[in-house]
Parts: sequence; structure tokens; C-alpha cells
Amino acid sequence: MKNLKKVLLAVVTTSLLVACSGKNQKDNVSSKENDPSNNSNKSVASEIVKDGVIDLGTSADFPPYEFYDDNNKIVGIDAEIAQEIGKKLGVEVKIKDMDFSSIIASIESGKLDGGIAGITATEERKKNVNFSKSYGKSVQKVIVKKDSAFKNPEDLKGKKIASQLGTTGEAAAKDTYGEENIQSFSKNMDAIVALNNGKVDGVVLDDQTAQKFAEANKDLTVLEKDLAKDEYAIALDKKNDKLLEAVNKAIDELEKDGTLDKIFKKYMDNQKNE
Ligand code: ARG
Repeated sequence: MKNLKKVLLAVVTTSLLVACSGKNQKDNVSSKENDPSNNSNKSVASEIVKDGVIDLGTSADFPPYEFYDDNNKIVGIDAEIAQEIGKKLGVEVKIKDMDFSSIIASIESGKLDGGIAGITATEERKKNVNFSKSYGKSVQKVIVKKDSAFKNPEDLKGKKIASQLGTTGEAAAKDTYGEENIQSFSKNMDAIVALNNGKVDGVVLDDQTAQKFAEANKDLTVLEKDLAKDEYAIALDKKNDKLLEAVNKAIDELEKDGTLDKIFKKYMDNQKNE
């Protein structure tokens, strides 16, 4: 992932609202029976979401799930899964970049239909949003400087720890190290920069993302022992059960036809989504 280095070096992350849309523009009715990716139509679309567009929030600071490529487009596992779901449902899916901590609130307030951002389906969040079936797993890890003396998460007790605001990583960090030692950042990149600058001694975040940051920055390393487990799911408007049903059906199909595997392989190199 050579792009990641650039992402990481781009310390100033502008909050561009980039909409990457996968429009299903095929309105050719006669081809529908033969084309499984176009097995729906506009009336079905408006049954699922009123305006016929599924608006999903993300936080594009989370490789390999969502990050900006050289063309300033949001790419990654989640971005591709979102577009594939759109194709299955015959609905346009738009992804909107924002702070991770705003995603659930934006769904609740009706600004978004859902969120796809490596979101862990926690009991707490289930009170506010529906969650699709899980499409990936992770664990919380600690990333540190390679030349530090920290070999185990316990070695960082009493040290300064960074995490991303509103994440399960932040919760795990607070549990493990005490709230007073945690500094939370809106964007993951800023937490990593704080580590690089010696402002904090470790960052707690999801495993695959930690690995990607370490790959892009040879001074960093990920400690082996994990702090907590996560299951990723798509967060969806709690008032829209049709959307939940449709998304779950699409995920099932993407699982069965091998699309999910293909997407994970493309972005995970040798890592597996287990
Ligand atoms: N899995 C963690 C959580 O749900 C972190 C997700 C962060 N995602 C992101 N796109 N920055 O809290």
C-alpha cells in the first residue's frame, strides 16, 4: 500500500467532503434477468430509502477500510463493499467523509441512512442504530515506537496514550490505562503524528489499521497482545427496517458469490479478516 505513506505524511487532513458514488445507471429492463448486479429498479430503491440514494457516513482515516487514494477518492474495503451493496440493490450509494464520532449521531438525526467505517457493533450503539450482519472482525492493538522499551501493553501503564474519539479503541484505552492518561483525536492520523512526535507513548486502535500505519512508517510497531475484540457491521437508520433487510440480503449474496473475499484480499495483502 504505497499510498499510505503519502496519507500518513499528509499531516494536515483537510475535511473534504468527497462523494464517491457508484451509480447503477443501467435502466435497461430487458437485461435485468441476466444481470445479477442489476436485480432491482427505481421503485424498489425508493422503497428502501425515500430519495433513492443510500447516504453512508465514513471516516476516511482508517486503512485498509477507508482512506484517500492519490486521486483524492475514498477507497478501501468499506468503500468497495458499499458500492457492491448498491449494485446488488440497484440503488446509488454515496459515501460522505466525517469525523468518526459524528457518524452515529448523523444517522440518528436523519442526515445519513447509515455508516460504514469499520464500526464495531457494540451493545451501547445498538440502542441508537440498527446493525447489519457482521462482515469483518478485529481486535484492539497498541502501536508504539519501535525503539521504545514497550514490549507489552502492560508496559505502558501510567504512560500517555492516544486514541480516536468515540471509538472502541478509546474505550479500551480508558479501561486499560485510565481516563486521565488518554488523549483522543478526531482523526487517526493525528494520533499517529502525536506518537511520532513523542507527545504520546502509544496509540490504541484497530489491528488492521495499526498494521497499515506500521507498514507505512518503519519507526512504528504493533504490540502482539490485544486489548479487546471487535466485530464490524454497517450501522443503519433504526427507523428503517427495510433498509436493514435489504443490506443484510446484499451482504449474504456478496459473501456467497465470493465478492467479499475478493475485496478483503485486494486490500489486506497477507492479512486475513478473521
Ligand atoms: N472499530 C472501532 C469502533 O467502532 C474503530 C472504528 C474507526 N473507524 C474509522 N473509520 N476511523 O469504534
